[in-house]
Amino acid sequence: MMKLKKLVGFVAQIPSMRMNFSSVACEGIHKEKADCVVIGAGVVGIAVARELCLNYNRNVLVIESASTFGTGSSSRNSEVIHGGIYYPPNSLKARFCVRGRRLLYEYCKEHGIPHKQIGKLIVACGNEEIPKLNYLLNRGNENGVEGLRMMEGCDAMELEPELQCLKALWSPTSGIIDSHSLMLSLMGEAETHGTTFSYNSTVIGAHVDENQINLHISDTKSVKNLDSISEWCPDITLVPKLVVNAAGLSAIPLAKCFNGINYGVIPQCYYARGCYFSLSNITVPPFQHLIYPIPEDGGLGVHVTLDLDGNVKFGPDVEWLGDIDDSSSMQNKFDYTVCVDRANKFYPEIRKYYPSLNDASLQPAYAGIRPKLSGPGDGFFDFIIQGEESHGIPGLVNLFGIESPGLTSCMAIAEYVAAKLLRF
Ligand SMILES: Cc1cc2nc3c(=O)[nH]c(=O)nc-3n(C[C@H](O)[C@H](O)[C@H](O)COP(=O)(O)OP(=O)(O)OC[C@H]3O[C@@H](n4cnc5c(N)ncnc54)[C@H](O)[C@@H]3O)c2cc1C
Ligand SMILES: *[C@@H]1O[C@H](CO)[C@@H](O)[C@H](O)[C@H]1NC(C)=O
Ligand SMILES: *[C@@H]1O[C@H](CO)[C@@H](O)[C@H](O)[C@H]1NC(C)=O
Repeated sequence: MMKLKKLVGFVAQIPSMRMNFSSVACEGIHKEKADCVVIGAGVVGIAVARELCLNYNRNVLVIESASTFGTGSSSRNSEVIHGGIYYPPNSLKARFCVRGRRLLYEYCKEHGIPHKQIGKLIVACGNEEIPKLNYLLNRGNENGVEGLRMMEGCDAMELEPELQCLKALWSPTSGIIDSHSLMLSLMGEAETHGTTFSYNSTVIGAHVDENQINLHISDTKSVKNLDSISEWCPDITLVPKLVVNAAGLSAIPLAKCFNGINYGVIPQCYYARGCYFSLSNITVPPFQHLIYPIPEDGGLGVHVTLDLDGNVKFGPDVEWLGDIDDSSSMQNKFDYTVCVDRANKFYPEIRKYYPSLNDASLQPAYAGIRPKLSGPGDGFFDFIIQGEESHGIPGLVNLFGIESPGLTSCMAIAEYVAAKLLRF
């Protein structure tokens, strides 16, 4: 198969044809066969590509709209390896988190990925929070999370002298990881086994022709400044046997551009930004372990995370974004600026468990956006992984709502997606 990079260069010379490819076949557009295409080079897309080529000997092409890998949620998160406590038993989140964590620690050890199993304390600071902690303990036990233990406040505070709490739940399997190194390593293996990564290439839609999916791909530059998806025109059409839609924040808007899909099963998407603030001017980090409050609606609460360099940050909060239309989402027009004012809400929340936090010690760090399947107050939603049986297109798997714990789960998701596609 010709490399897509070359093809894009080649077809760029074909005069641009504005056509509505979702209703007509794309005649005149260069067509190329392919084996497997993964859409999106985030940690999940990369892990899926690696799994397909390494363990199933498939030929994989990863199409990424940005100019490099991992620029989406995969580089805008807490970099925490989660235990698997919070999620309803038997949900995909619970299963993938526990299995993914075990696979991830093993992988990190084997491949020298910087990580540390530092453990985590979930803390109750008011009496009314203690039952919630007990609930989390039971749930974690049901999910098979190892080593969970309830601690008295005084014991937790002895472990972490800056901490203030009434009780704490200790999770020894939680840890931190350098996600950039992880992605590099997974990519390296994938490339060694024949996977090609094609950047600056946006999948703009698809149609089904003779029971085969035709994937429309355009140079990212040429879709950048167009207002409406209907004006977008492909530079090339790929005809792969298997397609994995791992487009993160854009996975749902993209699936809506797949002509022939059962629209009824495409969920609504919501976006929730989370900002981080870092602790400035510290010589010694105030904490040795991850410290989490009781979870809030939409997120796990403004928590303490440490990175492998000893930096301390707080976040992410939850800010629902109401104004992202599908075409902006497909063009990656996300606003990741951290609004300095949000720090005002951080101080009181953090001081509930870290009372000696100094005024003016929080510096804006970065933000990420969660691809959510539920809106404010809607409660728990699981990951959605759809195959033909649900959306009707042969050879396609859609990954929707891959928010936290998606990083922890990436290798378990990859296993599951490959098995689903190849029916093992
Ligand atoms: C604030 C925050 C904190 C988090 N904290 C944690 C944590 O501590 N632990 C944990 O386990 N998980 C955490 N997560 C979740 C984790 O970061 C994500 O689940 C994971 O990174 C998702 O990876 P992905 O590959 O699915 O998506 P992404 O990393 O977003 O990758 C999707 C890729 O698809 C590309 N793309 C989009 N549309 C197209 C298109 N049309 N054509 C081609 N390419 C396209 C994008 O450019 C992007 O590179 C957190 C998430 C957030 C937002
Ligand atoms: C992608 O596009 C950017 C900017 O448009 C450019 O600098 C970069 O070289 C391109 N990368 C590839 C692999 O073509
Ligand atoms: C932190 O240090 C910077 C200079 O490195 C200084 O400008 C700032 O005032 C300090 N902040 C606090 C809270 O001490």
